[in-house]
Amino acid sequence: PGTVPFHGARQAGITTAQQDSLVFAALDVTTSRAGELADVLQRWSADAATMAAGTPVGGSGGLGGAADEPPQDTGEAHELPAANLTVTLGYGPSLFDERFGLADRRPAALEELPPLPGEQLDPTKVGGDLCLQACADDPQVAFHAVRNLVRTGRGVVRVRWMQLGFGRTSTTSAAQSTPRNLMGFKDGTANLKAEDTTDLDRHVWVGGQGAPAVDQEWMRGGTYLVARRIRMLVEAWDRASLGEQERVIGRAKASGAPLSGRAEFDALDLAKTGADGTPAIDVAAHVRLAAPETNGGVKLLRRGYSYTDGLDVATGQLDAGLFFIVFGNDPHRQFVPLQRKLGAQDALTEYLKHTGSGVFACPPGIGTGGAWGEGLFT
Ligand code: HEM
Repeated sequence: PGTVPFHGARQAGITTAQQDSLVFAALDVTTSRAGELADVLQRWSADAATMAAGTPVGGSGGLGGAADEPPQDTGEAHELPAANLTVTLGYGPSLFDERFGLADRRPAALEELPPLPGEQLDPTKVGGDLCLQACADDPQVAFHAVRNLVRTGRGVVRVRWMQLGFGRTSTTSAAQSTPRNLMGFKDGTANLKAEDTTDLDRHVWVGGQGAPAVDQEWMRGGTYLVARRIRMLVEAWDRASLGEQERVIGRAKASGAPLSGRAEFDALDLAKTGADGTPAIDVAAHVRLAAPETNGGVKLLRRGYSYTDGLDVATGQLDAGLFFIVFGNDPHRQFVPLQRKLGAQDALTEYLKHTGSGVFACPPGIGTGGAWGEGLFT
């Protein structure tokens, strides 16, 4: 308890019971030598495994060492428990340009996202050659992990943008209770969960049973991560009546029950109408438009976090919302069409602004003795 194994058939941090804190970093590679990058990836996987076990970088001596050298570990996680730390690696589409000779290794699904409705992207929060998603039940542990990996990679990679998330907005295990997002609604109720192995194979894992054909063997057993920094226009939301808020989501605020049912986990009844003949779940409600029933069966593994970056000084409004992270085995047939539809029709869109974005290929897990980058560089 308290530690999540780093090694395994899948990367940790995907179906792992969702932890409370996130530090997400998108990085660019600054070297043009593939060997230097492969070396950093290899060291990252060793360091991530060490930190996931609750051990400092460099082992038990990592905090000490010679007086005239910086210690190997930065030290702020010393005496803190591992807090279920997971570090998940992803490769961005730009990694497969001409720089590292990887152009013919790019899976077709790893393509930059097209422009989507409802977005006003901040160019400083988009893209990246790599991503690191660190999740833990202690924000300091998650930060420590990313900080130390960035430090290891200095001279070879640099952070392009970064997002801190506090508070999960999803559940990835049936054993977890449903948290609330910053709109005050329960979030994660109808999410795919670790227990849904048949659906995970079909919708999340590359090469799973029922999943699309694999075009790059190195991705077998991996998945794709789409990150969207979604700002909530909280001032507008907070002025909306309870009835309006519930109509927009399609669920009751207090219980999380669909407006067509009574209890949180009741299935949506999209055909149900009220006494006046209007649908119980509004035609523009978020859950109606996002549900697999109205999207050709598409299901996603959502694993997002609430965020705030304080005040938007230009408007005097809070910069807060949901750092949406979603996993699926074909982002251009899952996330993209869904977001196109939501951005155009969803009543929630009026209260949102997508300000950051990235898509990354998360390779499969590695065995003990293995290293990140294997299958791609070696
Ligand atoms: C469901 C909130 C963005 C896809 C829900 C639910 C809430 C919610 C409260 C109902 C509880 C649940 O089943 O988890 C939000 C908020 C968003 C947001 C506040 C933005 C800040 C998105 C985006 C997508 C998405 C961008 C995908 C492109 C879904 C899906 C469901 C869902 C697939 C489950 C629908 C069902 O099967 O019942 N969301 N969501 N959401 N959301 Fe979102």
